[in-house]
Amino acid sequence: MTKKIEVFIREEKFEEVKQALYDIGIVGMNVIEVHGHGRDGGVTLAWRTGTYKLDMLPRYQLNIILSDHNLERVLETVRKAAYTGQSGDGIIFVYDVVDVLRIRTNERGADALRYDDDIDERRKKEAKPVNGGQSGKVRNR
Ligand SMILES: Nc1ncnc2c1ncn2[C@@H]1O[C@H](COP(=O)(O)OP(=O)(O)OP(=O)(O)O)[C@@H](O)[C@H]1O
Ligand SMILES: [Mg+2]
Repeated sequence: MTKKIEVFIREEKFEEVKQALYDIGIVGMNVIEVHGHGRDGGVTLAWRTGTYKLDMLPRYQLNIILSDHNLERVLETVRKAAYTGQSGDGIIFVYDVVDVLRIRTNERGADALRYDDDIDERRKKEAKPVNGGQSGKVRNR
């Protein structure tokens, strides 16, 4: 029913990724500044006096809890926005979420993940256009 994604991206890609997520109607999220490395183990800086290994590079970690049916669209949106083609572009971990509880309302599960004008509301609006899907003039009755 529900998934959590942990998205590790370059700091300079954060605004682009965030905007791309807003554009598809992802509302709830949080971000943490982290330091880490993937398979390359960081970078080696060369100085006149020798080399120095920087093994924990700064990254942003975005956490998003979302419904299963939005997972692939969100993964693809993040991937496209975070991509440069260079090593260090980041990684996304996907987890199953057991439950969600909104403290103020005591809503649970999918209800606790509903936001105004979110990805699901937008999908519903697209499926049901205001004029009933007709193009051109709508006759008055
Ligand atoms: N196995 C892991 N566990 C926890 N965090 C990780 C792991 N792998 C990567 N990260 C986090 O993701 C960040 C980005 O990693 P990075 O983009 O270098 O991944 P990669 O697997 O080395 O891919 P690439 O080959 O594109 O560099 C790291 O700085 C670290 O914060
Ligand atoms: Mg790497």
